[in-house]
Amino acid sequence: MENKVTSATAEQTQKLGKQLGGCLRGGDVVALIGDLGAGKTAFAQGVGEAFCVKGPMTSPTFTLIHEYLGQIEGTEVRLVHMDLYRLQHPEEAEVIGVEDAFQENAVCLIEWPEIIEDYLPDDRLIVEISGSGEQPREIIFRAKGFEWEHRIKGMTEVI
Ligand SMILES: Nc1ncnc2c1ncn2[C@@H]1O[C@H](COP(=O)(O)OP(=O)(O)O)[C@@H](O)[C@H]1O
Ligand SMILES: [Mg+2]
Repeated sequence: MENKVTSATAEQTQKLGKQLGGCLRGGDVVALIGDLGAGKTAFAQGVGEAFCVKGPMTSPTFTLIHEYLGQIEGTEVRLVHMDLYRLQHPEEAEVIGVEDAFQENAVCLIEWPEIIEDYLPDDRLIVEISGSGEQPREIIFRAKGFEWEHRIKGMTEVI
C-alpha cells in the first residue's frame, strides 16, 4: 500500500514529518529516499519536532549520524538521524555503528538508505520524496506489511 501527498513548501514537508512522528515508536526504521535537496532533512526535522527534540536538528552530512534524545508520550527514546550519502562501501556501515541504531529504544531515520540495503531491517517504512527547487514535492509513504499500512492510514494530506 502507498499514500501520496503533495507538499507545496518546506514547512509543509516538515509538518508531514511531524505527523508521521506522531505514529512512530521505539524500534521503527524509516528510509528517506530522494535526490539532494528533495527535502529529506526537512522531513526528519519534523519528526524531531514530534519527539520534542531540543536544539536544532542539522544535516548529518559530514558526521553521517546524529543522535538526539526525544520523548514519546513521556518515555525517552533515542532519535537517530543518518545521512549515508558519503558512505563509499556498505561494509562501512558496521564501522560507523549503523546496526546499533536498530534497537527497541531508538527510532531511526535514514537518508540515502540504498547503500546499506542489506543491513536494513525488512520491517521499515519507506518515504520517497520527489521534486526539487521551489517546485511542490510529491511524498510517497510506502508501507511494507499490514502493520505499517495500518499506521500510515492517516498520512494522506498535510493537516
Ligand atoms: N515542498 C518542499 N519540501 C521540502 N523542501 C522544500 C520544498 N520546497 C522547497 N524546499 C527547499 O528544498 C530544500 C530541501 O533541503 P533538505 O531538506 O536539506 O533536502 P535533502 O535532505 O533531501 O537533501 C530546502 O532548501 C527547502 O527550503
Ligand atoms: Mg539531507
